[in-house]
Amino acid sequence: MGSELLKVGVLVSGRGSNLQAIIDASERREIHARVVVVISDKEDAYALERARKHGIEALFIDPRAYPGREDHERAVGDELEKRGAGLICLAGYMRVLSSYFVKRFYGRIINIHPALLPSFPGLHGQLQALEYGVKISGCTVHFVDEDVDHGPIIIQAAVPVLADDDEDTLSARILEYEHKIYPRAVQLFAQGRLKIQGRRVKVERGIFPPWAVTNPSLED
Ligand code: GAR
Repeated sequence: MGSELLKVGVLVSGRGSNLQAIIDASERREIHARVVVVISDKEDAYALERARKHGIEALFIDPRAYPGREDHERAVGDELEKRGAGLICLAGYMRVLSSYFVKRFYGRIINIHPALLPSFPGLHGQLQALEYGVKISGCTVHFVDEDVDHGPIIIQAAVPVLADDDEDTLSARILEYEHKIYPRAVQLFAQGRLKIQGRRVKVERGIFPPWAVTNPSLED
């Protein structure tokens, strides 16, 4: 692989399946990156266990131990910096970051969301899509800015919403693609191929599919 690996810090609150996808891609050497620390705001997050199983440092930093949001974020940021994290991945991190944190790391924080942003930001993106009645939903990896699920978009995957879907089945279909696009976004970042140009992210040397997805199909 040659050049040095990008050091990644991952912030989590829960089960950590996206964290797992990044760790697996790293261990398979599909990405020029390695996870150096996983930080949770929840002590019982399964993601912490996943990290430890792979010999990755796992920290619980309790927001309740700090007088305010920024104090907690300063502690999180310091731990990330201490370990030289060049990229911070939010992977089911259920806290809204303050402008303090976003400014400190702007352009080096990315997030995954289970909908095609700007549709259905916030909680339960999959259920929101289902209830709205869209025929296509998906997932998005984007740079983090000061608004929730809002910053410049790096990569998206579209999946069909099927007639008999419920929140679980749609979430599972979307999750399969979350696990593909998140490691891919990390790799594009690690290779220095992402250029933020205002709201748009230029992906250098990307391959761009010329076809469209329709649901239902145009065919019978
Ligand atoms: C994922 O579906 C992720 O897209 C979502 O939380 C889940 C975390 O799962 N994030 C958001 O909704 C952010 N607005 P994971 O812990 O198994 O990766």
